[in-house]
Amino acid sequence: MAMVKTPQPTSRRGFLTRLWIGLGVVAFLQILATTVLSLLSGRKRSQTGQDQIIEVGKLSDFPPGSVTFIALGHLYLCHLDTGGFLAISRKCTHLGCAIPWVTERKQFECPCHASVFDITGKVLKSPAPRALDLYPISFKRNQVTINIGKSIKRSTFKTEQLAHPQELS
Ligand code: FES
Repeated sequence: MAMVKTPQPTSRRGFLTRLWIGLGVVAFLQILATTVLSLLSGRKRSQTGQDQIIEVGKLSDFPPGSVTFIALGHLYLCHLDTGGFLAISRKCTHLGCAIPWVTERKQFECPCHASVFDITGKVLKSPAPRALDLYPISFKRNQVTINIGKSIKRSTFKTEQLAHPQELS
């Protein structure tokens, strides 16, 4: 007499094996997607690192002691009383809030967590961990130009960061 084999219900072990394989596939796809996205964003980052020169005005438009907001670059052009220019990012180095210049106190004051920076972008009060970023400045035929495509990170202010008009190019 022939024996008829009835289909067995899915065993617990078989179910768990299939579940783990399924989870492994999902994890692999997630890692693959993350890798592709990070490669694409890396390419985008290097594109924004390209030169992007803007003309912001004549030298005489920026007298010593002035701090001028340059909307196109989201930065401030600071002409120190002691001489020398700095193009300072308005993005706070703590969590990225836009920082206003407060003329009465002659300092940058972050509205988010109260970091304070002096006219050179140096931290006077934390939680900001480092000085505000800079952009390269050059002086061409009495015009001030700033390269807003190349921000420069720094820990603090140093006099060699100052750009001087006599360094004509
Ligand atoms: S974002 Fe400026 S202090 Fe936090």
